[in-house]
Amino acid sequence: MQRVTLATIYSHPVAKKYVVRAGLDHAIKTALTAFDIALRENVDTDLATKAAFLHDIGHYQWYRDGEWDFYSYKENDIHAIKGAERAHKLLIRLGEGRKAAKEIALAILLHTDSYLPEGQLQLDPLQQVVARADEANEEAAGVHHYREIPEDTAIVQLQSLDQHVAATEVQRKTS
Ligand SMILES: [Fe+2]
Repeated sequence: MQRVTLATIYSHPVAKKYVVRAGLDHAIKTALTAFDIALRENVDTDLATKAAFLHDIGHYQWYRDGEWDFYSYKENDIHAIKGAERAHKLLIRLGEGRKAAKEIALAILLHTDSYLPEGQLQLDPLQQVVARADEANEEAAGVHHYREIPEDTAIVQLQSLDQHVAATEVQRKTS
């Protein structure tokens, strides 16, 4: 079965709308970092980069009177839940395998614990990679969601990352 690539995912209108809304630059940087960590830790780079690229696809913008309303966000945000579901639906529609789509969705669901009750989560290696990659690319006051990247640069970066993932996974699965 042919691999569903990051570039293919990004070409879908659903990804275009929601990844861009949450910050395309942040999504790509998180995917690049996830690739590096996954490679170091022998985690599937295909799943890690897809989950990282789509991790904020459930974001809603919390505004009150034109200002970012952090209190409402903290109280009401469920972007990880929405994102997990949205990403899963999108991936299945694009032909992703059900097992991979579920693993990616779970990593998105657990990439943050900000919306969860207090407690200790036992993340698996893939989920840890995505959470760490996101954390590494966060900036104060959510500035990372607003960093811009030209469309053609974004596509070139995604295609280049796709090539690295394809090469890595061939090597990992034959070694
Ligand atoms: Fe994020």
